[in-house]
Amino acid sequence: MRYERRGEVPQKRHVAFRDNGTLLTEEVMGYEGFSGNESILYHLQTPCRVQELLEFTPIERDEWVPDAHAWRLLNTKGIEAEGDPVHGRRLLMWNSDVEIAICRPEEEQEFFYRNGEGDEVVFVHQGSGELETTFGTLPYREHDYVVIPRGTTYRFRPDGEQLWLTFHTPGEIETPNRYRNRYGQLLEHAPFSHRDFRGPTELDPHRERGEFELVLRVRDGYQRYLLDYHPLDVVGWDGYVYPYTFNIDDFEPITGRIHMPPPVHQTFQGPNFVICSFCPRHLDTDPNAIPIPYNHSNLQSEEMIYYVSGEFGSRKGVDVGSITLHPSGLPHGPQPGLAEKSIGQNWTNELAVMCDTFAPLRLTGLARDLDDGKYALSWHEASADGGSPAGVTSHL
Ligand SMILES: [Fe+2]
Repeated sequence: MRYERRGEVPQKRHVAFRDNGTLLTEEVMGYEGFSGNESILYHLQTPCRVQELLEFTPIERDEWVPDAHAWRLLNTKGIEAEGDPVHGRRLLMWNSDVEIAICRPEEEQEFFYRNGEGDEVVFVHQGSGELETTFGTLPYREHDYVVIPRGTTYRFRPDGEQLWLTFHTPGEIETPNRYRNRYGQLLEHAPFSHRDFRGPTELDPHRERGEFELVLRVRDGYQRYLLDYHPLDVVGWDGYVYPYTFNIDDFEPITGRIHMPPPVHQTFQGPNFVICSFCPRHLDTDPNAIPIPYNHSNLQSEEMIYYVSGEFGSRKGVDVGSITLHPSGLPHGPQPGLAEKSIGQNWTNELAVMCDTFAPLRLTGLARDLDDGKYALSWHEASADGGSPAGVTSHL
């Protein structure tokens, strides 16, 4: 991320800075001790101030250990709206590097939230609204990735119905190293530019007093605090750490004469995982190219794909809201007959979000409930019935 600044900040760091005569409280918020990216915020109140310590609730994960190791197809389409924008995130799969959840919030977020142990990405499949944060208001819309650094105090203000795919990681969310120069600027061959990343718009420091609840995710649980002031009290900040959005429709697909490998779709990196965007695009231009992917073995990784829109006719049962999980140790690829049918096709309108992890993903009871139970045999059945319907999904 690049340097940004909102509101008023003093000419020099660590000097007296006042608001109507009152000395403001400076907060340095940085990664990796004092070696990583940081921002400096100026608060009306000390951010350490709490009125009361409330209860701590550990996070409980309902693990499902399937009887058989297999490819999985989950259908999230009928999932009920439930909970608020934080606790309504319903975990599907996780490992020590990333948690992947689906969220269809129906309740207002009455409290402020801060993730004290991880960065978050919220992919907005449906919906729009605003994220109120200590860095200002961040508007979001359909197809945005909303990236929220740890330590950001925020409250979602959704406008209408929402459907999100959410990620939590104890690591950092970044754009891929290979798309940045040694100064951090995005390079010409990147599938996005700095203009595609949007930070908070207006910064409106809240001065009101009263009772405000803060929920902090920490130590694998939720700690509640009672504050006697509005926590979004920042009058100015600057630095490299702040929440931002990137809209998947701004991703510029990289295409070629023959099949391009999955890394061309990479959008973000985290520790031992990547998040990729599969967007509508021209397929391979060589007349003899096979535009659907070759079979590939995830020797060292697990692959989760969430289908956002478009046609996924190359797979029976794969629809908008479906998730395929291709776990480690097993090859995966097109169903029999499809490679032949795909030759000459030159366009795909698929839109999908993929998360590849190095470490195995554990599944939850929700994944069990959404599992179709038949996907693992689909290559066999397709072979028996002469092949699947035509259609090109580029990465199955
Ligand atoms: Fe794959």
